[in-house]
Amino acid sequence: MQKISLGESKLSSSRLAYGCWRLAPAGDVKTNLEIARAAILAAVDAGFTLFDHADIYCHTRAESAFGEVMRENPKLRKKLLVSTKCGIRLADEPPGTPQRYDFSAEHIIRSCEQSLRRLHVEEIDLFQLHRPDWLMDADEVAIAFTSLHKSGKVIEFGVSNFAPSQVAMIQRALLQKLEQPLVANQVEISLANLTAFTDGTLDQCQSLNLTPLAWSPLAGGLLGDGGKDLLPSQQGYRVDGILAALDAMATQRGVTRTALALAWLLKHPAKIIPIVGTANPDRIRAAALATKIELTREEWYHLLLAARGEPLP
Ligand SMILES: NC(=O)c1ccc[n+]([C@@H]2O[C@H](COP(=O)([O-])OP(=O)(O)OC[C@H]3O[C@@H](n4cnc5c(N)ncnc54)[C@H](OP(=O)(O)O)[C@@H]3O)[C@@H](O)[C@H]2O)c1
Repeated sequence: MQKISLGESKLSSSRLAYGCWRLAPAGDVKTNLEIARAAILAAVDAGFTLFDHADIYCHTRAESAFGEVMRENPKLRKKLLVSTKCGIRLADEPPGTPQRYDFSAEHIIRSCEQSLRRLHVEEIDLFQLHRPDWLMDADEVAIAFTSLHKSGKVIEFGVSNFAPSQVAMIQRALLQKLEQPLVANQVEISLANLTAFTDGTLDQCQSLNLTPLAWSPLAGGLLGDGGKDLLPSQQGYRVDGILAALDAMATQRGVTRTALALAWLLKHPAKIIPIVGTANPDRIRAAALATKIELTREEWYHLLLAARGEPLP
């Protein structure tokens, strides 16, 4: 699979990333390990090198299952980039607390250290803030990031679900304290969710040379063979028109609908890296074929119009 730099860093990622959110859905450790092992090894074989996590995925079980696969395959580490996120704290952890976001330096540093242990790696290649904390203090974030970088625990930093104004705020503090810019903003982008094209996110990624990482690139499965465990925000997506346009073009080109939906993201000049989320090895291999599809401007706009459901002005 083709490679691409993350932002201005020296880290080189596969053109598609693999998302580990759904890696450990079962109650028991053995089943989770089997699912994770099959998915990770299929993704590595298909050329994926960037693996995206968060501390909260499957209540930490996704990181732990991944860590176990790393333990079983020690030679894998140097082939992969390991990315994770922190900053979301679930309700009742500890008991009696509400759901909240926490970018305090103490929480950021502690989360990173816990993820390192679960992931069974010496350092995290890309460490991201998961969702903007309403009480975010950019200077405190920069202090935490500087400490994690200087202690060798994290190589590069990114954010997720940040508005352009929030990216600018963190970027400014980070450049002052660490002299190292953010490399990525991870946001939802797909034919079913066009927000990043219109709210300034992709414009900012191009102008700051930040890599846009696209979560739910198949709208959680709605652009594939159906979504399960959709996020509440995705449950209202109407994709019939998109699927009809994708299917017609896929038949014409002799490719799959899902590869086409991912190739549509790859075409954008901001150099979007879609994060593929299926745990099914056959679907992982099918997704990788997106990197072999080059869409014309006309094909790209054809799918955009289907996604908009109305003409351009
Ligand atoms: N930063 C954030 O806030 C945030 C939020 C959400 C996700 N993420 C990241 O983005 C990654 C991807 O998100 P996602 O899982 O929603 O991505 P996705 O690729 O849009 O959706 C994957 C889901 O689609 C299903 N699916 C159905 N038909 C499919 C097909 N033909 N091909 C592929 N998948 C098909 C999969 O089921 P099967 O597994 O049964 O194939 C899986 O449940 C996550 O793993 C995580 O790393 C980040």
